[in-house]
Amino acid sequence: MGILNGFTNGTKTASNGASSSMDAQSLRAVLENVIDPDLHQTLGTLSAIHNVEVEGDTVRVYLLLHAPLHFAAERINTACKEAIHKVFPQAKGEIFVQEKLAERPANRPLANVKHLIAVASGKGGVGKSTISANLAAALARKGAVVGLIDADIHGPSVPTMFDLEEEELRGTKNEQGQFIGHPMEKYGVKLVSMGFVMGRDQAAIMRGPMQAGYLNTFIEQIAWGELDYLLFDLPPGTGDIQLTMAQRVPLTGAVIVTTPQNLALADVRRGISMFNRVNIPTLGVIENMSYYVLPDGSRDYIFGQGGGEKIAKEMNAPFLGEVPLNINVRKGGDEGLPVVLNDHAPMQQRAIMELAEKLASEIRRRGAQGQQVPTVQIAI
Ligand SMILES: Nc1ncnc2c1ncn2[C@@H]1O[C@H](COP(=O)(O)OP(=O)(O)O)[C@@H](O)[C@H]1O
Ligand SMILES: [Mg+2]
Repeated sequence: MGILNGFTNGTKTASNGASSSMDAQSLRAVLENVIDPDLHQTLGTLSAIHNVEVEGDTVRVYLLLHAPLHFAAERINTACKEAIHKVFPQAKGEIFVQEKLAERPANRPLANVKHLIAVASGKGGVGKSTISANLAAALARKGAVVGLIDADIHGPSVPTMFDLEEEELRGTKNEQGQFIGHPMEKYGVKLVSMGFVMGRDQAAIMRGPMQAGYLNTFIEQIAWGELDYLLFDLPPGTGDIQLTMAQRVPLTGAVIVTTPQNLALADVRRGISMFNRVNIPTLGVIENMSYYVLPDGSRDYIFGQGGGEKIAKEMNAPFLGEVPLNINVRKGGDEGLPVVLNDHAPMQQRAIMELAEKLASEIRRRGAQGQQVPTVQIAI
C-alpha cells in the first residue's frame, strides 16, 4: 500500500445494474455509520470523512484516519464499499485513505519516526530477536517504512537473521563534523546492529557505559529518515539498560515476548511492571514456541499451554497471538530470511502477519485514545 502520505486508493468496485439517485450528502450519511474495525466507532464519530465526490455512478470517498493504516486500510475499504453498495448498488466506489497527522514534538529524539516499539523479554532465548526480525519484515511487507535497532548490544542477532554477517556500518561526517551512520537495508527494513560495528566476541565483553554509548549513537546518529515504525530488539531482562533505554526513547509502547513456561511468565510480570513504572504502555504479549505440530496434525504443548494469554489477561495487556515451535522459523533465523517472507511456510507466515496486524491495530487504538506520548524522559 506504500507510505500513506497522500490519499491511497483501494480497488474500484464493479457496477451491477440498478439505479437510484445518489448524491454526496446521502453517501456521507451512509458512510457515517460505517464502523472502524480497530476503534469500534463510526466514521462519523471519528470525524473521518474528509470529502465525498459523486460523478455519475462514480463515487470517490476521502477518509482521514488514525495511523498506522497499512493493515486497516483494506478492511475499511471493504466496509465502506459494502455499506455504499447496500444502498446504491450502481455505485462504482473508490475509497482513499490518509493518515491523520499525530502531533509529535520536533525536538524529541527520532522525531521522524511515527511509532517506536520496544520488543522485550524477561529472559534470553525465548525468541525475542526472531519475533523482532519477523515483525519488522511483516510490517515492511505490508508497505510500511520500517527500521530495526538491534539494541541487544551484547548479543547482536540482526546480521545473521538478515544474512548481513559480513557487512560493516558505513558513515559520513555532517557539516558539524559529526559521524552519521547509514543503516543497512534488507527486505525493505532499515537495520543497525552492533554486529555491523564489531564482532560478536568483542561485543560480548563490552562494559555498560560503552554499551549505552553505542545505543545512543544508534538512536541519535543514524540517518533513519522518515519511518512508520522503528523496532528495538532490546537485550533480555529488565535491568538498568532496558530501563534507561525505555526512558531515553519516547516509546509508543512495548511488546513482550515469552514462552508458555511458568518461569518465563514470572519475567513477563516483571517486564510489564517495569514499563508501567515509566508510563510506557504494553502493546501486547506474544507467546512464542507455543506448541509443536506433530506429523498427524495434533499439537504437542512442549512448554505448557495458554501461559501467554493467561499472563496477558492477568496484567491487563492485550494478547497478540502465538507462534508455534517450527523448524522453518529456526532455519529462517539462521539462514537470514525471516520466515514471514518464506512463501513455503504459509502457516508460520500467517501467524506472524496476524501478530503484526494485531500490533498495528493496538497502536491505532492507543493513538486514538491519545496515550501515545509517555511523560517521563531521562537522558543517559
Ligand atoms: N518459533 C520458533 N520455532 C523454532 N525455533 C525458534 C522459534 N523462535 C525462536 N527460535 C530459535 O530459538 C533460538 C533463540 O531465538 P532468539 O530469537 O535468538 O531468542 P532471543 O532473542 O530471545 O534470545 C534461535 O535459534 C531461533 O532460531
Ligand atoms: Mg536476541
